[in-house]
Amino acid sequence: MQEFNPANVPAHVAIIMDGNGRWANARGLPRTMGHRKGVEAVRGAVRTAAEIGIRYLTLFAFSSENWNRPENEVSDLMGLLKAFIRRDLADLHRENVRIRVIGDRSNLSGDILPLLIEAEETTIANTGITVVIAFNYGARDELARAMRRLAGDVAAGRLRPEEITAERISSTIDTAGIPDPDLIIRTSGEERLSNFLLWQGAYAELLFIPDLWPDFTRETFFAAIEQYACRERRFGGLTQPTLAVGS
Ligand code: IPE
Ligand code: IPE
Ligand code: MG
Repeated sequence: MQEFNPANVPAHVAIIMDGNGRWANARGLPRTMGHRKGVEAVRGAVRTAAEIGIRYLTLFAFSSENWNRPENEVSDLMGLLKAFIRRDLADLHRENVRIRVIGDRSNLSGDILPLLIEAEETTIANTGITVVIAFNYGARDELARAMRRLAGDVAAGRLRPEEITAERISSTIDTAGIPDPDLIIRTSGEERLSNFLLWQGAYAELLFIPDLWPDFTRETFFAAIEQYACRERRFGGLTQPTLAVGS
């Protein structure tokens, strides 16, 4: 097994799992078959992330803009998420995986929300990797919901405008308590963020890889972490942050 220097392992990796449709098209299959294969790649990615020692893995599963797809594709994607939780929750729980879900919960169909809540509640005390499922998620929507909450607190006299700091915003958005992603990977060769983690990704390393999501393997993941390990992160300074003497 390949070993990484723990100092070079990102604590939080977020993945834009793109290319399911093209994977299916290339084989003359319906798009839904690509999504099915994509679920298998998800299982592998969770296992590999835990093996590497990643603490948080965020997976973009359905965006707030994906409602613009044909109704049958949307319902296939909803069905696959439900089937995934029903089939995999017990295994994930046994493997000490904690599940968190980010995204807008207000307009999800009746049977999906209880499953998402069950997944979170069943695994809440687990201490292994945290898998964050971004479902019905869009960064602008997330920020707009957070701003409405903060504005409501100000209007009600519970919060002063000067108390709205970057930290306060971070703890009001869906990812409250989760560290910012160190690495955002997008598969399929597209080089854009598509409304994913716009606030949290301020200093994330971005990695765009040509592989379509269903082809994402353990080797692909290891190669991505190797690339990350070669990056120099500066956070606006001049050198990598070092521990202050005596701290
Ligand atoms: C990613 O694959 C899965 C979701 C967006 C839910 P796509 O369905 O976007 O696949 P392409 O981009 O059309 O190939
Ligand atoms: C981003 O992929 C959303 C997910 C992976 C869930 P899209 O395929 O929806 O993004 P665009 O439309 O190509 O930007
Ligand atoms: Mg796509």
